[in-house]
Amino acid sequence: MGDQCPGRGVSQAPTAGTILGKLSDLPDPSARASDWNDGAVILVHRNGVVTAWMNECPHAQLRLSLTSGKVLLHKDGFIVCPIHGASFESESGACAGGPAGDDGLTAVVVRVVSGDVVAG
Ligand code: FES
Repeated sequence: MGDQCPGRGVSQAPTAGTILGKLSDLPDPSARASDWNDGAVILVHRNGVVTAWMNECPHAQLRLSLTSGKVLLHKDGFIVCPIHGASFESESGACAGGPAGDDGLTAVVVRVVSGDVVAG
């Protein structure tokens, strides 16, 4: 199956301790949807730092990931929404351009534990 436009985002955040994915599946730099809850969270690994955000663009509440789970991460570190092209800083989640205006991404606090990316 190729990359297709995503559907609606999922707004329920993971509880602390939830394993979202493996660090080994997230090369630096890259971004992808979580293994948890049908990709409800996106994971970003850049410059040695892992960040996570709810998989929902604030512009039209659609998913930031493609159906393959890939997330568009610009070489300058911006997460790019595949629907209308809004861009977000991968370290702060702030909108950097496009139709999302001043609305940024919703952060999910994560840490790496024994090779897993874990919420909380
Ligand atoms: S849904 Fe993301 S920019 Fe419109």
